[in-house]
Amino acid sequence: MLSKSQARTFFISGTLACAVAFVGLTLDTFRRIPAQTRAAAITPDVARGKELWDHNNCMGCHSLFGEGAYYAPELTKVYERRGESFIRGMLTDPEAMFKGQRKMQKYAFSEPDKAALVAFFRWTGQVDLNGFPAKPPLARQATPSRRDVPQPQIFGQLCIVCHSLAGQGGNVGPALDGVGNRRDAEYLRRWLRDPPAVKPDTRMPKLGLPDSQIDELVAFLEAQR
Ligand code: HEC
Ligand code: HEC
Repeated sequence: MLSKSQARTFFISGTLACAVAFVGLTLDTFRRIPAQTRAAAITPDVARGKELWDHNNCMGCHSLFGEGAYYAPELTKVYERRGESFIRGMLTDPEAMFKGQRKMQKYAFSEPDKAALVAFFRWTGQVDLNGFPAKPPLARQATPSRRDVPQPQIFGQLCIVCHSLAGQGGNVGPALDGVGNRRDAEYLRRWLRDPPAVKPDTRMPKLGLPDSQIDELVAFLEAQR
């Protein structure tokens, strides 16, 4: 049994020690926030993207940093997962990306708005969240690349959503195994620039890829024989 004075000392010193630890840890957390959030990288575009995110209630369907609704995909790492062209496609017209299958509504974003949201997602992807969200097993790690032509990063981010290769990927478009036997480089280039210009009723959207990415993709696709 503690005596009364021992109990008092125990109470006061215990409370003080816990209070000091609590204040210390709180200060330490606050000290880390600027580095973890990469506060220096918050440009006006990123801030504008956040405004658009809030204003349009994207969180009504999506989660970000784990907060929000679970109807639609977590978007913290969407920039890394899908790349800019895909995000722009979703912000332009989700139906064009996935005809008749998807539930995201079409917004009327201006080009600067889309750029701001892309900048916002690029930033959210760089925030240090102590490993959240866990990395999904991305299809690009599973799709083998033929003939020593390296698989362009954009292929694993974007094309694989709709196409499969070696049995991995989506089934919105045809499997791309052996596409080099069916199509030559010139056709592939025209196709990737603007699918509806080649085939007006096609379900593959115009993705607005830069020429450098198209070159890489054509080399890769041509090698799939
Ligand atoms: C009504 C619900 C809803 C709202 C509101 C909504 N989305 Fe979506 N969004 C979806 C669904 C569902 C998908 C998944 C589409 C799919 O799997 O094909 C999606 C997909 C996306 C993707 C692609 C994610 C991925 O990993 O493929 C992005 C980027 C995106 N949404 C951004 C936004 C932004 C930005 C807003 C707000 C301006 C927004 N969404 C508002 C339902 C919604
Ligand atoms: C939103 C879905 C979607 C995305 C994303 C997409 N495609 Fe397609 N793709 C299709 C569909 C659907 C077709 C079939 C077009 C048709 O015949 O109307 C197609 C056709 C093709 C073809 C022609 C295949 C053939 O046998 O003639 C190639 C090549 C191709 N896509 C490459 C790509 C590449 C490379 C990417 C990534 C940059 C990509 N696609 C992204 C849906 C998509």
